[in-house]
Amino acid sequence: DSLKDAYKNKFYIGTAMSLPQIDGTDVKSDDIIKKQFSSIVAENCMKSMFIQPHEGKFFFGDADKFVEFGEKNKMFIIGHTLIWHSQLPRWFFVDNDGKDVSPEVLKQRMKSHISTLVGRYKGRVKGWDVVNEAIMEDGTYRKSKFYEILGEEFIPLAFQYAQEADPNAELYYNDYNEWFPEKVKTVTKIVKDLKSRGIRIDGIGMQTHVGLDNPKLEEYEKAITNYAAAGVKINVTEMEISALPSPWGTSANVSDKVEYEAKMNPYTKGLPENVTKEWENRYLDFFRLFLKHQDKIRRVTLWGVTDNQSWKNDFPVKGRTDYPLPFDRNYQAKPVVEKLIQLTKEK
Ligand code: G3I
Repeated sequence: DSLKDAYKNKFYIGTAMSLPQIDGTDVKSDDIIKKQFSSIVAENCMKSMFIQPHEGKFFFGDADKFVEFGEKNKMFIIGHTLIWHSQLPRWFFVDNDGKDVSPEVLKQRMKSHISTLVGRYKGRVKGWDVVNEAIMEDGTYRKSKFYEILGEEFIPLAFQYAQEADPNAELYYNDYNEWFPEKVKTVTKIVKDLKSRGIRIDGIGMQTHVGLDNPKLEEYEKAITNYAAAGVKINVTEMEISALPSPWGTSANVSDKVEYEAKMNPYTKGLPENVTKEWENRYLDFFRLFLKHQDKIRRVTLWGVTDNQSWKNDFPVKGRTDYPLPFDRNYQAKPVVEKLIQLTKEK
């Protein structure tokens, strides 16, 4: 049995693919991906910095391979991400003098970036994270270059360009901590505004980089029902559950370097049994919630395959040893995988 078979009639179950998985050098991970997942998203290779590092110079090689892998294995292929303040090459928003470009020029560059990318994979990439991480936890807009130059309008523009480039692709707004009440309010407002203007938006991507304690399941559930009520599907994107204590509690008040590092990286030799249990239960709780709301959920995507490849090992400091994913450092499924499969068979 596999995750993808068990969840077949529930929602897509996906993973992000890193470069070694895309270019075929990490065969062991590829075998897991083919067996377990029905959807894939590119972890990095479609980001503006990698795919259009210089104006008009596109590097499609990795993205092409990624899409071919998905087609060959009959997967629901997701593009990540079109408009994001991070991993954004500088040329995008400056002119030759190094000054910010005019709104007209930025619109033109957005349009050309989006239509080139979405157009190239038209009909093949089935959904796009059109805008990523534009709203802060307090509900205000992030002061990104897009916002500074174009104001709030950059979001509808991005969706409009994507829709024009592939009218049949699903289009998503993707963000983290999307359960903070003020953030939910603003994102919901954006959804309603787009819809009222006849601009396509199909789903909210809830990134779901979570820990053992935060967020509370009730807060998360509230966000699901709120977004669904605004008429969009929920995509659980970028999910992993860190097994480490939250860095935000320890960093500020620990001054001694050794003590700090011990607190930041407590399980270098493996995860204690009690924490493993807690971590496993947390996954099961989340998936029970997803199953409960399966009518609202289109896809659940994990941010990576095995523990050793997770970005969490380097966040917020390099060299942290984390255990956030259902497959271990030896490419073995953890017991949680079988339990997630069994969940679908419970009444
Ligand atoms: O490929 C280059 C390599 O050529 C270069 O020599 C090396 C030196 O730094 O960097 C390599 O690129 C790194 C890339 O990952 C591929 O490994 C970047 O530095 C590094 O910043 C990048 O990190 C990614 C991060 O986004 C920033 O783009 C993580 O892998 C990726 O997991 C993470 O994913 C993000 C989502 O896109 C958005 N939501 C949050 C999530 C976690 O931060």
